[in-house]
Amino acid sequence: MGLQDKKDIFSFIMINLLLTSIVSGSTDTITSSIPLKDGDTIISSRGLFELGFFSPGNSKNRYIGIWYKNIPAKTVVWVANRETPVIDNSGMLKITNPGVLTLTNDKNTIVWSSNVSKAAPNPIAQLLDSGNLVVRDKNDNINFVWQSFDYPGDTLLPGMKMGKDLVTGRESYITSWKNDDDPSTGEYTFGCDVTGYPHQVIKKGQVLQYRSEPWNGIDFGGISVLPQNAIYKFDMVFNEHEVLYTYKMFNSSMISRLTMNHSGVAQRWVWADQAKDWIVYFSIPAADGCDLVCGAYGTCAINSFPKCGCLDKFVPKYQNEWNGANWSKGCVRKRPLNCKTDGFVKHANIKLPDFQYSMFYKNVTLAQCEKLCLKNCSCVAYANILKTGGTGCMLWMGDLVDIQEGPSFSSVLYVRMASSDLGLFTKMCKHEGFD
Ligand SMILES: *[C@@H]1O[C@H](CO)[C@@H](O)[C@H](O)[C@H]1NC(C)=O
Ligand SMILES: *[C@@H]1O[C@H](CO)[C@@H](O)[C@H](O)[C@H]1NC(C)=O
Ligand SMILES: *[C@@H]1O[C@H](CO)[C@@H](O)[C@H](O)[C@H]1NC(C)=O
Ligand SMILES: *[C@@H]1O[C@H](CO)[C@@H](O)[C@H](O)[C@H]1NC(C)=O
Ligand SMILES: *[C@@H]1O[C@H](CO)[C@@H](O)[C@H](O)[C@H]1NC(C)=O
Ligand SMILES: *[C@@H]1O[C@H](CO)[C@@H](O)[C@H](O)[C@H]1NC(C)=O
Repeated sequence: MGLQDKKDIFSFIMINLLLTSIVSGSTDTITSSIPLKDGDTIISSRGLFELGFFSPGNSKNRYIGIWYKNIPAKTVVWVANRETPVIDNSGMLKITNPGVLTLTNDKNTIVWSSNVSKAAPNPIAQLLDSGNLVVRDKNDNINFVWQSFDYPGDTLLPGMKMGKDLVTGRESYITSWKNDDDPSTGEYTFGCDVTGYPHQVIKKGQVLQYRSEPWNGIDFGGISVLPQNAIYKFDMVFNEHEVLYTYKMFNSSMISRLTMNHSGVAQRWVWADQAKDWIVYFSIPAADGCDLVCGAYGTCAINSFPKCGCLDKFVPKYQNEWNGANWSKGCVRKRPLNCKTDGFVKHANIKLPDFQYSMFYKNVTLAQCEKLCLKNCSCVAYANILKTGGTGCMLWMGDLVDIQEGPSFSSVLYVRMASSDLGLFTKMCKHEGFD
């Protein structure tokens, strides 16, 4: 080998080292000249998130994913091509004019692409420290033409939004993976429902599995297991244009995420630096199995046995089924309403019933709310659902479903009763002298 050859090899190695450090070193962007190949990654500027190809669980399929860079347990928080894996290592993620991200396979066929709302003359894709992958013009770091935060997968990160655009009807929610090996859309969703009053729901397909209490300015009361929350702050926007739920960390160096898992449990996770592991902060539905089990006018109390009972002055509709712990048919009144002389019984420490047949009035006091309910013979209950000192009146126009009772619930529900059911005894028991 001559001296010239050695020099050539040397410079060849140097150039390769240089190229490697440019390509796989710490860049946070994909430009139109350098696509992202399988094996390469980009890393957000402060090193919090990483984007690249990965294979979930035991699968050999390749997906573009985003995961935390700075924690040891590889936790994928977003997947681009959920439904359309690349089956080998030939995948390439490119940014093309006018600002579209495309994922191609070995035949150069596009297997996934992003949408574009407006053009970017010099498009780049950049991974931000929030975990958001954005497409923008090279010279404009304010306006994004596309962002992954608009397309949540099974994870809600701080700053992501969940809710409904009331003008376009577009909803955003998180959906479970199919299973640990397959990130394609599974059966469970966790999102907002705006029926009656905005609240959060878990559904399996179209079937309701869990609902929170209404947004009342403080919290979603249905998540009753929450201790005073010192780690994140959630926020809800509710106006004529949109209903949005979002949250942020009090301490931005804390890591937390909200996920929908494929057995139907939504979980809030917090990374414990000392234990080097994820800790479940809460799970919904709770394992107590109190959600949606007791039927109409039934109430569930975790610490009672059996856990289902009937509201005071109601009896099981089918006593035998009820005795056999089949509570789905619920309870019925002992005495019918007559509409004219009815009154109300107060129930405290309640998870308010399902809002499917409810109506919400802003700026209506509790006394006005009672009058509104009395005026309409279909109205069976009312409550003030705003706990921030505001006045907000909810009326229930159908059977009362999914009531729960216990010290962890703080709502008060007024249930319409026949006047003969409003005896002195009931008053003393139910009102406990506080009215
Ligand atoms: C792009 O937009 C169309 C129409 O709004 C929608 O049907 C499609 O799912 C979107 N694709 C992605 C990848 O978001
Ligand atoms: C934020 O969290 C980090 C890491 O847990 C900790 O070192 C820091 O003291 C916290 N900052 C505040 C203001 O609590
Ligand atoms: C979902 O979460 C629940 C509650 O932690 C757990 O029991 C279950 O195993 C989880 N399912 C999956 C598929 O991870
Ligand atoms: C409960 O009763 C209904 C009939 O009212 C029946 O269809 C259902 O299978 C029963 N469920 C169980 C768990 O026994
Ligand atoms: C609520 O009522 C107060 C006092 O009656 C009034 O000043 C305010 O404009 C009302 N707000 C709405 C949203 O109607
Ligand atoms: C009572 O409420 C029902 C259900 O919202 C409504 O259809 C009906 O018009 C109301 N009746 C009166 C008298 O306001």
